[in-house]
This record gives sequence, C-alpha cells and structure tokens, in this order.
Amino acid sequence: THSLRLGVAGLGTVGASVVRMIARRADALFAATGREIRITAVSSRDRNRDRGLDLSGIQWFDDPVALARSGAVDCVVELIGGSEGPAKATVEAALASGKHVVTANKALLAHHGAALAKAAEAAGVALAFEASVAGGIPVVKALREGLPGNAVSRVYGILNGTCNYILSRMEREGLTFEACLKDAQALGYAEADPTFDVEGFDTAHKLAILTSLAFGTVVDAEGVSVEGISRVQPLDLRMADELGYRIKLLGVAQATAAGIEQRVHPTMVPKSSAIAQVMGVTNAVTVDADAVGELTLIGPGAGGEATASAVVADIADVAANMAAGRVRPTFGRPSAALRPAERVE
Ligand code: NDP
Ligand code: HSE
Repeated sequence: THSLRLGVAGLGTVGASVVRMIARRADALFAATGREIRITAVSSRDRNRDRGLDLSGIQWFDDPVALARSGAVDCVVELIGGSEGPAKATVEAALASGKHVVTANKALLAHHGAALAKAAEAAGVALAFEASVAGGIPVVKALREGLPGNAVSRVYGILNGTCNYILSRMEREGLTFEACLKDAQALGYAEADPTFDVEGFDTAHKLAILTSLAFGTVVDAEGVSVEGISRVQPLDLRMADELGYRIKLLGVAQATAAGIEQRVHPTMVPKSSAIAQVMGVTNAVTVDADAVGELTLIGPGAGGEATASAVVADIADVAANMAAGRVRPTFGRPSAALRPAERVE
C-alpha cells in the first residue's frame, strides 16, 4: 500500500499544529492505519513568515486551488476558513479532482454542506469534518458511528469556546468583554472575524452540522434563530449569579411536533446543573436519545493542538479506510435518505 499524501492548505493556528502533530505522531499513525502519512504540499498566504515549522522537502503553493489539483496530493486538509472564497474554491477543486478532503471549516459546511457532500459522494471520496464542531471533542464520530440504534430527540450544548471563555472570565474575574475577547484572540480561539463567535453565528454553524448528523436532515444554517453574547452586560451576570444561575451561550436542536427547531441564544442555567460547571474554552454537547438516554461529551472547544487532534483523527480515518477501499458517506448516510429540515417559524 502506498502512503497517504497530504496537502495542507492554511498554516495558521490549526494548520501549524497539524503539521507538527503529523511529524510527532508518524509512528503511531502508521501503526494505527497501516499507511505512512506524509505531507507533500502546503499553502498559505505569506511564504516568508517564520512559522517555526520544518517544511523541508514539502512543495509550497501560493494558490491553495493549485495545491488541491496537484498530482502529488491524495487528501487535501483545508484549514483556511470562511464559507466562500479560497476555502470553498479549494475544497471544490479537491473533490472535483477526486481528492479526499479533511476540513475544520464549519462555516463552509453549514452553508454548502449538502452540495459538497453530493460532490464527495459522486467522486467516491471522503469529506471529513470532525474538527468543525466542538474542537477536540470527537462528537462527529460519536453521532455518526455511536448511535445507529437510537432515535435522537435533542442535541444541545456549549459549542463556542471563545464565548464560553469570555463569559467565564467576565463572571469570575470581573473583566470587561473587550479584554476577554482580546485574550481569546491571542490564544488562537477566536475566528479571523470574531463577530462570528460573539454574535452566535459560529455556534449556529456548528449546531446546523450537529442537527444534520443527529436527525438525518440536510444542513440548514439559515433555519437557525441566532442571538449572540455581545449584549450581555456584567450586570446581567451579577443578577443571574444572585438568582443562582450562570449565563451560557447554548445551541439547541430539538424535534418538535412542527419539525426540528434550531436556536442559539444566551441562556440562564442553574449553577448546580452540569452544564453550568463547563467553564473557559471548554465545550459540552448533550444528546438525548431513546435507547441510550442522555449522553454528554465535554472537552476543549478550540485551540490549535486540541483542534489538530480532531483533524488528525479524520486524516487517520481517511488513511485506514483507504487501505480497506472504503469511504464513509459525508453525513453518515447516503444523501438519497436525507430529508429536508423542517423549520419552526
Ligand atoms: P488562522 O487565521 O490562524 O489560519 C488561517 C490560515 O489560512 C493562515 O495560515 C493563512 O495564511 C491561510 N490563508 C488565508 N487565506 C489564504 C489563501 N487565499 N491562500 C492560502 N492560504 C490562506 O485560522 P485557524 O487556524 O484558527 O482556523 C482555520 C480553520 O479552522 C477555520 O475554518 C476555523 O473556523 C477552524 N477552526 C479553528 C479552531 C481554532 O481553535 N482556531 C477550532 C476549530 C475550527 P497566512 O498564515 O500566510 O496568513
Ligand atoms: N472560534 C471557535 C470557538 C473555534 O471559539 O469555538 C472552534 O471552532
């Protein structure tokens, strides 16, 4: 069996961690997958920036679309970000040229997941996105592979590390919103445009992906009602505290008589509840399912290393399944079985 040749597009917070992790875990990845996993190509905007990475022997592309089309790449790892522009063009070019794709890009999947899944299935390649939801938590794998005997009635949680980090520090340390956001950016948690975090759109993107996995619906980002945390004041946090509550930004998707409801908004949760204990950059995802009951996964929701952990899990999956000649359908089932998400107006 030949090696899996990776093209990594985007060498920022997540991409740089992925490059280091592939090198550090080379032997373990070979043992786990039966394939040598090698980075043969990379792309980023600024060729001259010192990223502290050893890129010797790796082909550099200024244009990630050219990387995606390169004959020296079997699998494109898209870590650029954004629902349009170069990230979308790169993923589309990769699928069109029969390359597997691994991405952490929830904005792209939330807006174009259905079309991209179709392209991946037509090409017979994997489109893997573990890192797109809840950073290091293997929640996509859990929903896709762990619950086939269950009907899910609800999935909800804390899905944005930046917001939970901000709310936690505002509450515990009395810091301002702006100071906490600055720190979240410095730590590599926030999106390139942090409006996506604080206005709830990033949570909505992740929720739309979770809904699709949990309920077998087409990804529908437009169907999510969204309110973020930018208007939460220190006074709100103090009032909640006095009443025995914390404020968390939650994403909730649940089956109702009228269809599947998807919403994102700041929520008062009792301080004694499990979800109120989730502080800092940590995320939590709870699933209510008929057979297993209530299941909660908790872990780091953002950051280079934690997110690379999920990206590398997908890469290993591609390598292992390639060796066995198998490709998983993108959203865990053939698209023919997808039904449109109904909305609650
Ligand atoms: P960064 O902004 O740190 O990195 C983005 C990278 O993309 C940079 O290396 C940048 O190049 C490169 N890039 C931008 N435009 C182009 C282009 N036109 N051609 C080639 N390269 C380009 O983002 P993150 O690493 O934080 O995020 C990457 C993805 O992972 C996003 O989709 C994000 O939503 C997702 N994600 C991030 C998490 C996190 O904790 N940070 C967690 C989970 C998902 P250059 O460095 O030269 O400027
Ligand atoms: N900006 C995102 C967050 C990154 O803070 O949760 C992880 O998807």
